[in-house]
Amino acid sequence: MTDKKVTVQITGQDAFELPMMSGTAGNDVIDVRTLGSKGVFTYDPGFLATASCQSKITYIDGDKGVLLHRGYPIEQLADGSNYIELCYLLLHGELPSPEKLVTFENTIKNHTMIHEKIATFFNGFVVDAHPMAMLCGVVGAMSSFYHDDLDISDPKQRQRSSYRLIAKLPTIAAMAYKYSIGQPFVYPRNNLSYSENFLNMMFSVPAEDYKVNPILADAMDKIFMLHADHEQNASTSTVRLAGSSGANPYACIAAGIASLWGPAHGGANEACLNMLKQIGSVDKIPEFVARAKDKADPFRLMGFGHRVYKNFDPRAKVMRQTCHEVLSALNVSDPLLDVAMELERIALEDEYFVSKKLYPNVDFYSGIILKAIGIPTSMFTVIFAMSRTVGWISHWDEMLSEEGQKIGRPRQLYTGAAKRDYVAPTDR
Ligand code: SDX
Repeated sequence: MTDKKVTVQITGQDAFELPMMSGTAGNDVIDVRTLGSKGVFTYDPGFLATASCQSKITYIDGDKGVLLHRGYPIEQLADGSNYIELCYLLLHGELPSPEKLVTFENTIKNHTMIHEKIATFFNGFVVDAHPMAMLCGVVGAMSSFYHDDLDISDPKQRQRSSYRLIAKLPTIAAMAYKYSIGQPFVYPRNNLSYSENFLNMMFSVPAEDYKVNPILADAMDKIFMLHADHEQNASTSTVRLAGSSGANPYACIAAGIASLWGPAHGGANEACLNMLKQIGSVDKIPEFVARAKDKADPFRLMGFGHRVYKNFDPRAKVMRQTCHEVLSALNVSDPLLDVAMELERIALEDEYFVSKKLYPNVDFYSGIILKAIGIPTSMFTVIFAMSRTVGWISHWDEMLSEEGQKIGRPRQLYTGAAKRDYVAPTDR
């Protein structure tokens, strides 16, 4: 903490002080919770300079391109850990002993199946429904099945619903894909790892034995790890706000899925690959870069820019490396990778992008890897949502374990009509 203070001098009023708070790293904050009693609010649409909470889960330094999960750099975790261990770390705050990891992984495996009645929900969707629409609907409906863990004041019940969500999201996501291509659902298999199991549920068919390619399983696990959590982004803030009202965890995660869907957020991976396809070849890049710079043109380079990172997104660096490894291991040459690499080179040398500190973000390369794995574009944001569920639920649990947690209720600057009397229709 800190004994720093800030003095506020509002015209016509006596000056007053506000306390400040310091964390382990990052910006100090001004505690403005008493400001309302002075007759003023802070104004920060888009939350450009607002800390909405205290958290111990993830730290980002946007200027230095640093991302820590419970203090561990994402590069080291991506290199030495795996997604299921990262789930334990995000949820429980420490790396597990080998014994605890085995117990955790087996517990998750024992929750991967879903109630058979949930499978019938899919029949209510048109066959070309976007998989994100199915994910949003089915996850929200899960609260109608799991009544034994809806007491959010009970840490044990919060843990059980957290484990259920982490375990069942891949099953539901794969079902959304299978439904969209008219193939039978594939049940989870407990003899497979988290990523192997997901690929098996996505791609195996009754007619033949499906062998999970270990290269694809490793790449899938890396994708899951790089999307697991990212501080107070839009969808995590949505989950926290929904959870602050006491909504059940399944409803909160459904709200997070809905928020992630936007192209400015998690929908950017799908939009980025579509953009690379639209560009099509390296010689078309200058035309699209010019459009991205043209204020009159709403086109933006998807996969570029970030509210926090004003340097390389460390996840994009790992993603780019994985992209090369996967494509060369599969002996696949994808012209879209050539377009992506050249687009990155041009953008990083262009004054517009340099001056605005626009760098590739996590969504820039992920689509190329997902395409190499065989994941259809419409499933890209579903993969992001699956991966981020552990981050969302970790923040949800952290918030609910705090003493004196309050419902989130922002105020506003009112610019509407001043008080006026009603006018009867005959007098208008
Ligand atoms: C994710 O918050 C998180 O942590 C998110 C995330 C996570 O893990 O949860 O990291 C995941 O959402 C990554 C971002 C994915 N979105 C995209 O790739 C979509 C394209 N990027 C942008 O729409 C934009 O960069 C945002 C939304 C990501 C960030 O927007 P900001 O911080 O609100 O910045 P801004 O829109 O105010 O842009 C600042 C300037 C503007 O120009 P000026 O008005 O100052 O002249 O940069 C320009 C923008 O026009 N700009 C771009 C651009 N991104 C910003 N210009 C061209 N192409 C772009 N991609």
